[in-house]
Amino acid sequence: MTNSDDIAEKGTPMETAQTIGRRFACNEGDLAPGESMTVPADGEDIAVALYRNDDGEYFATADTCTHEDWSLGEDSDLEGNEVVCPLHMARFDIRSGEALCFPATIALQTFDVVCEDGKVYVLR
Ligand code: FES
Repeated sequence: MTNSDDIAEKGTPMETAQTIGRRFACNEGDLAPGESMTVPADGEDIAVALYRNDDGEYFATADTCTHEDWSLGEDSDLEGNEVVCPLHMARFDIRSGEALCFPATIALQTFDVVCEDGKVYVLR
């Protein structure tokens, strides 16, 4: 067996390593406290809702409400660290993604957010 056979069987280091990337979301001044926006889907990356709470902290979740098909980044109400979907009034914690009330029962996927040099990035 050659080295290349061994690599082919086990996979290359790039295939087995966990790679963390980041997506540019917006400039820091683009989103005021209490606002949200959608970072559009891009390739294999799903659309993400980016929120800025009243304390100026950023959080990110999957953009689509887990109850039905509604964009939380484009149209929702942010109350502290809870986002309210206006279609049927489900509430989610933007820090954990937890569904806080009916009719949503499934949590939103969450993403880490970093700010660097005045730019906001969503990690994946
Ligand atoms: S679509 Fe969000 S609560 Fe129904």
